[in-house]
Amino acid sequence: MGGHADEGKGSVSRRGFLKSAGVAAAATSLIDDAKKAMEPVGPAPAAAVRGETEIRFKLNGKETVAKVPPSMTLLELLRERLDMTGTKQVCDRGACGACTVHLDGRTVNSCLLLAMDATGRDVTTVEGLAVGDRLHPVQQGFVEEDAMQCGFCTPGMVMSCAALLAKNPAPTRAECAEGISGNICRCGTYLNIFRAMDRASALAKGGK
Ligand code: FES
Ligand code: FES
Repeated sequence: MGGHADEGKGSVSRRGFLKSAGVAAAATSLIDDAKKAMEPVGPAPAAAVRGETEIRFKLNGKETVAKVPPSMTLLELLRERLDMTGTKQVCDRGACGACTVHLDGRTVNSCLLLAMDATGRDVTTVEGLAVGDRLHPVQQGFVEEDAMQCGFCTPGMVMSCAALLAKNPAPTRAECAEGISGNICRCGTYLNIFRAMDRASALAKGGK
C-alpha cells in the first residue's frame, strides 16, 4: 500500500530508470571528456620533424652539418643519418661499450649522449682512425693478433685501446684491463686484445 506499482522488486522503476539514464549520460559525458583529454595536443609527427635543429661538429676531421631531433642520440645520428655504421649499437644503455667513440679525444658511449651535445665538438669514430691505407697501430695489432671473433665489440674496443695508447704509449696488462673495463667482449677475446695492445705499443714506437 502506498507504494508505486512500478517500483516493485525485479521491475525497472521510473525513478530507477531516470537515475540510471542520468548516470549513463554522465558517464558518456565523462568518456567524451576523457577522449578529448587523450587527443594529442602537441605537434603532429610532421611538425616534430620540422622541429629538428641543425648542428655543426667535426666528424673524423671533417666539418659536418646535420639536422637532429632533440631526443636523437649521437649513436643514432652516426649510424642512421651519417652512414657511420662501424660504431655498433648493442645494449643501447651504456653497459657494453660497443658504441664507444672519441669526443674531443676522450672515450664516450655514444648511445648515452644526445646528438645535440656534439655541437662544436670533435667526434672520431672507428672509420676515422686509419690514415689513408695505413691502419692505426691498434687496428694493425688487432689484425696481427687476431683479437676478434664475432667482431661486434671490436670497433668500441679499438676506440678504447686507441684512447689509452694516446695517453699511455706502453700500458701494462693491468692498465690495458682498466682501459677497456667499460667494453665487454662476449666472445672472450681479452687475451688476444692484450697481445694486440702490446703489438700496437711496439708499432706506435716505430717497431716492426
Ligand atoms: S651500445 Fe652503448 S654502451 Fe652498449
Ligand atoms: S669478438 Fe665477439 S663480442 Fe668481442
